[in-house]
Amino acid sequence: MNRTLAILKPDAVSHPVVLKMVGDIIMKSGFNISRACRIRLTKSQAEQLYSVHVGKFFYDRLVTFMTSGPVLAMELQSDKNDVITEWRNLLGPSKLYANFIKYSSTSFESKPLRIRFAASDTRNLAHGSDSPAEFLREIAVFEPLMKSVNDSYKLFE
Ligand code: TYD
Repeated sequence: MNRTLAILKPDAVSHPVVLKMVGDIIMKSGFNISRACRIRLTKSQAEQLYSVHVGKFFYDRLVTFMTSGPVLAMELQSDKNDVITEWRNLLGPSKLYANFIKYSSTSFESKPLRIRFAASDTRNLAHGSDSPAEFLREIAVFEPLMKSVNDSYKLFE
């Protein structure tokens, strides 16, 4: 079985229409959400989550943004598929404007989530672990709060 951590960031969670649309896309794409929690990260939790980026030009901006409102953290799970890669493919690139042109002739429904909904390289809608080791490191931030999910659609209301 493989797992990943998907986080809908404050820009997604604070916008009810975007949250609902992204939730519908996640469900229609066949992802299985095993556990989830909604939480407003403290500065130290955001720093723990993004410790690999300490010292980078965007680090302070990223921590400020990630603590600006609640996030929705979801554990995605699959028996058959490489869920880390599948989620990151749906998410799309982190460098928004550099990739915008690449998708200019792709229909809206076929564009990755960030190309569809993200506002900037920092306010970029969602996160996905990039390896099993990173998943284990990142899920530790949310572990005490994670709860089993019965009705996935309710998460996005
Ligand atoms: P990164 O690990 O490069 O991207 P991803 O989220 O796709 O794994 O960067 C982590 C986060 O850092 C990214 O989601 C948003 C922020 N970030 C910026 O704010 N500006 C940037 O130029 C980059 C590269 C990242």
